[in-house]
Amino acid sequence: MTTHGQPPADDEIPASADTADNATSAGADHPTGPEGVAHPRRIRSFVRRAGRSSEAQKRAFDVLGPQFKLDYQPAPLDWPAAFGRENAPRILEIGFGMGETTAHIAKLRADDDFLGVEVHEPGVGAMLKRIGETPLSNVRIIQHDAVEVVENMLPEASLDGVHVFFPDPWHKKRHHKRRLLQAPFVALLASRLKPGGYLHCATDWQEYAEQMLEVLGAEPTLENTAGGYAPRPDYRPVTKFENRGLRLGHGVWDVVFRKRG
Ligand SMILES: C[S@@+](CC[C@H](N)C(=O)[O-])C[C@H]1O[C@@H](n2cnc3c(N)ncnc32)[C@H](O)[C@@H]1O
Repeated sequence: MTTHGQPPADDEIPASADTADNATSAGADHPTGPEGVAHPRRIRSFVRRAGRSSEAQKRAFDVLGPQFKLDYQPAPLDWPAAFGRENAPRILEIGFGMGETTAHIAKLRADDDFLGVEVHEPGVGAMLKRIGETPLSNVRIIQHDAVEVVENMLPEASLDGVHVFFPDPWHKKRHHKRRLLQAPFVALLASRLKPGGYLHCATDWQEYAEQMLEVLGAEPTLENTAGGYAPRPDYRPVTKFENRGLRLGHGVWDVVFRKRG
């Protein structure tokens, strides 16, 4: 296990994952797409992982799910109705895992609204539990493929920020096509940012960090806020896992781009 969070180790990926082209994702070219954005090929950036929810996570699902979980639907999200306020900055987080970072940032930035999208059910339960314990009123969750959420629920120029922290690195070359941050999906994400909005990614996998710099750097509507890698913004906490890696001498890279005005 080399990387952050609890991603599926590449060795756990079923052989069929190589050919699961009927799913959604981030992948390579496809001739057409929404609003002139090349549509990603239908390859998922995730596999459904085994892993049971704890009793506490299940309870959080039942008690807090109805208030804080939003259904996926192929129609624009009504943010004021979902969050109960009109003009708060809108931040999307893709793949929040168990929600440690999300909860920290949402507490710190209480004036911002956070939409967390995650497919892993125990993670959604864990996030709901944190929402109850902290408590947080500015987080909503959609349990669905983030690519479809971005495509179908988030209109152009509607977001103030996007967070993608430690996305699954898909170490093996034959799995690189599953990486979330590839040109078509980055173009789609950029189209959803308001002018001046930001895209913040972090990874502990150097070769994916290089890919992030390259792909975001090649997106004409984005500009780098730093010369290359960015210093870790204060709002992003160093998680327990990250700390352990840092102690072992592993690197972590932040990449922060802004939508051109
Ligand atoms: C390596 S984990 C990192 C979790 C968390 N961001 C952290 O820093 O601990 C990546 C997460 O992204 C989620 N994920 C991957 N592709 C996704 C997608 N297309 N839509 C929603 N979640 C996705 C996975 O389920 C996994 O929980």
